Amino acid sequence: MLFCQITDTHIKAGRKHAYGMVDTATMLEHCVDSVMQLKQRPDVVLLTGDLVDYGRDDEYALLATLLKPLTMPMYLIPGNHDERDALRRAFPDHEYLYQWSPFIQYAIDDYPVRIIALDTLIPGQGGGRLCDERLQWLDSTLAEKPDTPTLVVMHHPPFRTGLGHMDILGLEGADALEAVISRHSQVERLACGHLHRSIQVRFGGSLASTCPSSAHQIALDLSADGPDNFVLEPPGYQLHWWDGQRLVTHTAVIGSFPGPYPFRTDGKLID
Ligand SMILES: [Fe+2]
Ligand SMILES: [Fe+2]
Repeated sequence: MLFCQITDTHIKAGRKHAYGMVDTATMLEHCVDSVMQLKQRPDVVLLTGDLVDYGRDDEYALLATLLKPLTMPMYLIPGNHDERDALRRAFPDHEYLYQWSPFIQYAIDDYPVRIIALDTLIPGQGGGRLCDERLQWLDSTLAEKPDTPTLVVMHHPPFRTGLGHMDILGLEGADALEAVISRHSQVERLACGHLHRSIQVRFGGSLASTCPSSAHQIALDLSADGPDNFVLEPPGYQLHWWDGQRLVTHTAVIGSFPGPYPFRTDGKLID
């Protein structure tokens, strides 16, 4: 089974560019094209937050239009730029968005790997939170199926990255989350967004990771007091392949590049 993770699409109404220069709508179109042209079509697409920029209805309407070419089931979670009710209004047929309220937390049991989505949103703030209520829901939901491999998806990553201006935002409850995860060995991965880069960290006996944005990336600067800059490195998405035993992650780069070229001709390595 193949999961595709797309994150931090940051769509703005009227295809307005983010920060005056990032054409997030066109970049999401390129991302969607790239996913649909993959030789192995993903079974599921996971969108891990910051779906739009200001949580507005007109932004979500454009997002829904841009995602239409994706023919596989999609599962959405909010990030710090999102607004729960507007997100639900824009995707009325996504019943899982209503599994629990007010938070958008849900479990999907339709696949060999169980999906559990966490809501780290604090309305109007950049940082994230997993309060006791949300963590207790996670603990009891994980306890329901201890033998089913599980992929946890959430927006704010629960670890420090070294990217100083992002670490300041942080995730309240990250230590308590680690304690919960460490009690449930079926958690194969915590797949996160928010960082606009690919990062992996050992976490609670599992692995926590972040995914590149389909649009702009956070500048790679590991100084504690570095500026909050972004760069237009090649954007990407991730494929999480369940081989029956492990979740294997590949980062795909979006764009047109030379190749592929063969290593060999007539069975011999090209010198
Ligand atoms: Fe973001
Ligand atoms: Fe974010």
